[in-house]
Amino acid sequence: MKKTKEEEIKYKYYHWGPFLFQSQITSAECELILNEGKRCRKKSNDFRHELAGHLSEEYKLSGNNKIAEGLKKYFHAYAVAYNTWRGDKGTMESKFQLTALWINYMKAGDFNPPHEHAGDLSFVVYPEVPDELRQENKAFKGTMGGPGGISWRYGEGNRQCVNTVNLLPTTGDIFIFPACLQHWVFPFRSKVERISVSGNVLFGKDSRTNYVGESKKEEDINLSVGGGGGSNFDHSDRS
Ligand SMILES: [Fe+2]
Repeated sequence: MKKTKEEEIKYKYYHWGPFLFQSQITSAECELILNEGKRCRKKSNDFRHELAGHLSEEYKLSGNNKIAEGLKKYFHAYAVAYNTWRGDKGTMESKFQLTALWINYMKAGDFNPPHEHAGDLSFVVYPEVPDELRQENKAFKGTMGGPGGISWRYGEGNRQCVNTVNLLPTTGDIFIFPACLQHWVFPFRSKVERISVSGNVLFGKDSRTNYVGESKKEEDINLSVGGGGGSNFDHSDRS
């Protein structure tokens, strides 16, 4: 009996959803963040009124050019990686403006409910994650993220879609993601302190054009009503 030759199926698939970026900061950068945190760990820098977390200690890192300076290369890497990921649609420029920066001292029982951030991109970096959390997380029996984990979720989806990323951060991890991407942090029971620093940035240029490139002015159509200035559809160059 003749064997039928198996037909070759050609296919492609598509990138979908938000761009979540992970890298590792150096131990010297972890040290710098921890020292700056110590400097700012005081009542006058209490930042909880601006944040979603159920934490007893969250402080604004004020005047922290050292941390901001160290973050630049990771945001540059985000822009490069994002543009690669988007292929010919990737036009993100490596120009960012840091608009908020704070430090979280998370203790047993603290948690961060589902929330989003302000701005265009946000980040979280972990300069110190105690080993006890890894042990506690390992012993977790459930199907969702375990104790001390962070979770990002995009869209409703079902089990055919990857709509959630659950991770247990380790020391030095940095994550950069769209500020509008919902995320939360699971509580833990270990009697330790987990330190993280988070912040928001704005694109250095109008966020409406950072993804699609500059509009071609000769093709722009003015949709202003009445011809007055200050229209919401003004296409003037904001870069
Ligand atoms: Fe957050």
